[in-house]
Amino acid sequence: MPRIVRFHRTGGPEVLCLEEAPPEQPREGEVLIRNQAIGLNNSEAQLRRGDYPMLTADLPSRIGRECAGIVEAIGPSVTTVKPNDLVSTIPAFDVKRNGVYGEWCVVPEVGVARVPMRLSRLEAAAVWQQYLTAYGPLVLNSRLEPSMTVLITAAASSVGLGAIQVAKLFGTRVIATTRTASKEAIIRSAGADDVIITSHQPLVASVNHLTDGRGFDLGLDPIAGPGIADLIDCAAPEAAIHLYGQLAGEPSFFPLRAMLRKGLTVRGYTLWEITLNPARREAAKQYIFNHLDSGKLRPIIDRVFPLESVVEAHRYLESGRQAGKIVIEVAGNVS
Ligand SMILES: NC(=O)c1ccc[n+]([C@@H]2O[C@H](COP(=O)([O-])OP(=O)(O)OC[C@H]3O[C@@H](n4cnc5c(N)ncnc54)[C@H](OP(=O)(O)O)[C@@H]3O)[C@@H](O)[C@H]2O)c1
Repeated sequence: MPRIVRFHRTGGPEVLCLEEAPPEQPREGEVLIRNQAIGLNNSEAQLRRGDYPMLTADLPSRIGRECAGIVEAIGPSVTTVKPNDLVSTIPAFDVKRNGVYGEWCVVPEVGVARVPMRLSRLEAAAVWQQYLTAYGPLVLNSRLEPSMTVLITAAASSVGLGAIQVAKLFGTRVIATTRTASKEAIIRSAGADDVIITSHQPLVASVNHLTDGRGFDLGLDPIAGPGIADLIDCAAPEAAIHLYGQLAGEPSFFPLRAMLRKGLTVRGYTLWEITLNPARREAAKQYIFNHLDSGKLRPIIDRVFPLESVVEAHRYLESGRQAGKIVIEVAGNVS
């Protein structure tokens, strides 16, 4: 009997249960996928714990939004994929019914994307969350030029590494931050020009030193909390800062005087701005597909776990030791 992952209460990684469940038949506009690999995201640990700011789990709940696999069946009116196609999922659906952790998932057709030939099955499960998150601030909402400096914080996260690659498509200078010195090499391998190790290098002085006092032009930050004051302090006049997470887990204060003086744009951002808007979603999918296909974007995978070790994989996800994407391989479905 095929297995899926669900949780019946919020809590630590141990609440994730591997349960036998026959595949559901896809309804109108849905696709049934036999999963081969599943990409893990930090927000899934937040959902499982019950502290995800965007969504509260409706229990018992499935979990997960990114996988790659083979189309097993399609529901009425599905036109863009057919049985036996290799596909990956984009985060454009509710996890209660459509969560992907397990050996199968049922997702809406709008949450299915083609897989470029050059990607492995594991890489194909590590595409959409990171690059779609980067796409909004870097492609849709900015006019990046080679003369500009982009600051990417928590740069060893899967989104951070993806964002570095996207920013480098424009030839901009990228300054990246991490708390962990051992992650510098992988951040540079993604294309960062400079890496600030924030555990022992002060952010403001380092950015000012690297930019001759001018500051950065565009910032992507998933940390927030008290560190926002420092970001604003080392932003260039008329810079924009996209806040897309709250890893710090502490309240944020916004020093209005400095924001006014510099004319900054500071805004919240989620990839739902892309995935729930059909025109933006299709443009973003095409843009990312083309750059994956040409080899200019390439997901960075940190570690692979078997499905049976989903609890251990979530423990590792929460440890903060990863640099890049954590992927679960569904060995029984890989031919
Ligand atoms: N708004 C959106 O649409 C959207 C989309 C995707 C992700 N996100 C958010 O983006 C964040 C990253 O997600 P992800 O899946 O890419 O993460 P990830 O791959 O799990 O990476 C997390 C990394 O962030 C760093 N970190 C953790 N806590 C930190 C803290 N308090 N201060 C500074 N750095 C910290 C750690 O690296 P170091 O060793 O460098 O500390 C850690 O390895 C999450 O908050 C997630 O919810 C938002």
